[in-house]
Amino acid sequence: MQVIKTIQEMQQTVKKIKQKQSTIGFVPTMGYLHEGHTALVDQARKQNSIVIMSIFVNPLQFGPNEDFDKYPRDEMRDMKIAEEHGVDYLFLPTVDEMYPNKLGVNMTVIDRVDVLCGKSRPGHFSGVVTVLTKLFHVTQPDHVYFGRKDAQQVAVIDQMIKDLNFPLTLHMVPTVREKDGLAKSSRNVYLTESEREEAVQLYHSLHLAQKKIFDGENNPAIIVNEVKKYIQSNTSGAIDYVEILTFPTLQPMDLINQQFIIAIAVQFDKARLIDNLIMSADGKIDHITL
Ligand code: PAF
Repeated sequence: MQVIKTIQEMQQTVKKIKQKQSTIGFVPTMGYLHEGHTALVDQARKQNSIVIMSIFVNPLQFGPNEDFDKYPRDEMRDMKIAEEHGVDYLFLPTVDEMYPNKLGVNMTVIDRVDVLCGKSRPGHFSGVVTVLTKLFHVTQPDHVYFGRKDAQQVAVIDQMIKDLNFPLTLHMVPTVREKDGLAKSSRNVYLTESEREEAVQLYHSLHLAQKKIFDGENNPAIIVNEVKKYIQSNTSGAIDYVEILTFPTLQPMDLINQQFIIAIAVQFDKARLIDNLIMSADGKIDHITL
């Protein structure tokens, strides 16, 4: 695996790869890698001749009171994991390399962001698509890989790729979970021992929703209420949101009659956890389309 720290070197490398007509699979990350990330690499490895991963904690997507400075980082460990999973090129730029000057042009997301995390984190998705535009230009991937856990991010990137004709294919990879069902996340390290025990209830609450649908309930408001009650009775976390929306368009729905997402965000003392299930109207999670 080759580690590349500058945009210039990454672009020269990509030029050489393209001359050989190899396909590039790209996995953008903010590091502190876990099985959620390596599942993306494993899928990229299967579908491409070359795999590029980036690790860059992007300041543009953190609000002023968010955890940019405290975001967990471990470059040495990440390099080892990336190499073990067959990454060919690890792009590791610094903030100065990516943003040498204050940007005079950036991207603004106007659709799919007035709900879920976009509502609680204003500007977050504009920061995400701005950095991804840069990273896509630098790495010129044929295929890009994102985790289903960050489903709103996938929905926004799907729109960006379609609206702005990025010549690449987006792949949404299923959420990787701990043995008990908690979604893997770099932020899980912030949970106290007792919060960690409670955190699995988020997953159980999503399954409660799925069971309601299997039992014939198709009123989103009733399901959302049940899920909220469940989380409140079984965790000490504060609910940021529980929402049911169409997916990937993220529109409110009065009746569950098409593919949809139930998404939750819960704030624990130092960790804000998100999770979701995307289902077809009958509650099945197998054939999700973008
Ligand atoms: O999902 C992430 O880790 C980040 O939002 C991404 C896509 C790497 C952009 O900084």
